[in-house]
Amino acid sequence: MAAAAEEIPKSVLILGSGVFGLSTAYSLTQNPKFANTSITLVDRSVFPAPDGASIDSSRIVRPDYADLPYARLAIEAQARWRNEWWGQQDVYHEPGLAVVVNKDESDNGNGDLGRKYMTDSMANVERCGLKPGKKSEGAATGKGGSSVGDFGYVNWRSGWADAEKGMRVLRARVEKTNRVNFLHASISRLQFSNDAVTGCETDDGKLLTADLIVLATGAWTPALLDLRGRCSATGQILSYIQITDAEQAALGDRPTLLNESSGLFIIPPVNNVLKVARHGYGYCNPTTIPHPEDASLGKITVSLPRTHISHPGLEIPEEGKKALRSFLAAVYPSLATRPFLNTRICWYTDTPRGDWLLSYHPRYKNLFVATGGSGHAYKFLPVVGDKIVDCLLGEPPAEFKDKWAWPERDVEDQVWTKDWRGGVKGMVLEEELKKGENKAKL
Ligand SMILES: Cc1cc2nc3c(=O)[nH]c(=O)nc-3n(C[C@H](O)[C@H](O)[C@H](O)COP(=O)(O)OP(=O)(O)OC[C@H]3O[C@@H](n4cnc5c(N)ncnc54)[C@H](O)[C@@H]3O)c2cc1C
Ligand SMILES: *[C@@H]1O[C@H](CO)[C@@H](O)[C@H](O)[C@H]1NC(C)=O
Ligand SMILES: *[C@@H]1O[C@H](CO)[C@@H](O)[C@H](O)[C@H]1NC(C)=O
Repeated sequence: MAAAAEEIPKSVLILGSGVFGLSTAYSLTQNPKFANTSITLVDRSVFPAPDGASIDSSRIVRPDYADLPYARLAIEAQARWRNEWWGQQDVYHEPGLAVVVNKDESDNGNGDLGRKYMTDSMANVERCGLKPGKKSEGAATGKGGSSVGDFGYVNWRSGWADAEKGMRVLRARVEKTNRVNFLHASISRLQFSNDAVTGCETDDGKLLTADLIVLATGAWTPALLDLRGRCSATGQILSYIQITDAEQAALGDRPTLLNESSGLFIIPPVNNVLKVARHGYGYCNPTTIPHPEDASLGKITVSLPRTHISHPGLEIPEEGKKALRSFLAAVYPSLATRPFLNTRICWYTDTPRGDWLLSYHPRYKNLFVATGGSGHAYKFLPVVGDKIVDCLLGEPPAEFKDKWAWPERDVEDQVWTKDWRGGVKGMVLEEELKKGENKAKL
């Protein structure tokens, strides 16, 4: 597609140092074709960004995908998580993943989608040669007798990663190559000619340029490029609960528990902190900004992150607290009333089909976009950089060629993914926060 694909750029500027940007930087340093390319990695934040998508305590690492190519890619990633260099970093743990759904077809929400996702995932895992350990059609019961769903299986070859540690060890590995210039700067705007990006303006008035720009600014990307109908930031809820040493010892090695009817999940606790969260449609946060590519086109409204950094004291809406609380109570009745240590909204970059966007821009030929994680890219940290470099070279993996290509624009500007998710579609963060305030006033 892009002429740049065959020519090796003399300079590459990567914007954003999350999973996509950092892994790209590392893979470029390892590829002999880029041996003479200068590589710069820009982020506006300290590393790792405290409000980025790529950190907190844990991320699920599962090949349990309803889509076979992602299942296969996850198995490729797991081979690296377990072996080679990654296997020595104490980042990846493999206590299994218990997936449950509600068999009751009458439940509201996303029962059907969740059930289909689960049965397709199980089939794919088996197709890839893994044997789910325990399939259960009666009540799937947790230790201690709590009922956690009525139809499901455990994949003992799934696990989770310490997200922040994974990012830190990869960053150290990149530093060790001595090939990457790290730059602390916030990009306020890209400058465009008719068919190229001519520079990146920083908020302190500098202009950065390079032969090739890789845009990997996560959920903030729609502030720099018109991605209406292609990528939208959606806010996802997380909560943390303090547990005792005895509880840590009892729960630490249990499988991750994922309810695919509700999207709610509990990852095994680390350092006496248990995490309860939801893989949902999330909240949109409509924000009106000048058209990022051409201010003369007027203003556009796009969903952008609101975080505890941009809005100190931000908590999750009541709706979210209730959902997390009731899941916790159902799974671990003894923890039902334990207060939240803290809560957090974390921002996915959602795409219409849940596929990543790893493609040259159809118009600006030196702009490569690496985003659209859609809430599931972390588990690929050991492999995704190599795939991005393949795409940069015009050689995407065959089974992902269409999936990662520049997507058709959805009818609606706001993307609500058609991929499986829990919770309700269409929630607006501001409205949900107000409901909580009103309730507090009553
Ligand atoms: C709560 C949550 C739970 C998740 N759970 C899982 C899971 O269990 N398993 C899994 O596989 N995946 C999971 N994911 C998804 C995975 O973490 C993301 O797909 C991945 O981290 C996305 O990485 P990124 O590089 O796109 O974004 P980010 O990590 O957000 O990186 C973007 C970077 O760009 C920087 N930036 C933004 N704007 C600018 C600017 N203007 N100038 C300079 N720098 C800028 C930011 O500071 C940030 O460092 C989860 C995500 C979230 C949010
Ligand atoms: C890099 O530069 C060296 C020295 O000029 C040259 O010998 C080598 O072929 C170059 N490598 C690439 C991949 O361009
Ligand atoms: C799983 O989600 C479904 C749908 O929301 C719900 O009916 C069921 O009770 C949930 N199971 C648990 C343990 O929360």
